[in-house]
Amino acid sequence: MSLLNILQYPDPRLRTKAKPVSEFGQSLRTLTEDMLETMYQAPGIGLAATQVDVHQRIIVIDVSDARDAPYILVNPELTLIGNRFDAEEGCLSVPGYYETVERVEKIAVSAFNVDGTEQIFDAEGLLAVCIQHECDHLEGKLFVDYLSGLKRNRIRKKLLKQQKLSA
Ligand code: NI
Repeated sequence: MSLLNILQYPDPRLRTKAKPVSEFGQSLRTLTEDMLETMYQAPGIGLAATQVDVHQRIIVIDVSDARDAPYILVNPELTLIGNRFDAEEGCLSVPGYYETVERVEKIAVSAFNVDGTEQIFDAEGLLAVCIQHECDHLEGKLFVDYLSGLKRNRIRKKLLKQQKLSA
């Protein structure tokens, strides 16, 4: 397994719309293992392929305290079925910032497993928020897009400055 480089906002590659996965083979398996390792090491609770510059519809998530309940969702589709509420979010591509974003508290999820098996389940709470956040990445959307332009611009400038300092 190997650690992957996580793109940081405002990298324009984070705006790429991901394409559906059509091949379920060893390369998909390796990619998802690397994504999980990268997410655990960061540490984070979710990672979309977009964030590691792979523009395919794949997300990995683990919201468990023990970090032993990973979800690998390939070509995920969501149906929003709950009420809207305010969720606190952060993102490995926007390090150091946590903001309130409006999400839906319950969703129905349909996706494929890494071996191509279909999985259908309902999710709520943190898991539902995390899946909505990661699916946004696949559309080239980030949680900062929900903030005011002023706030987003402030975060953008601060991150650009940090990236220059560490380059
Ligand atoms: Ni994110």
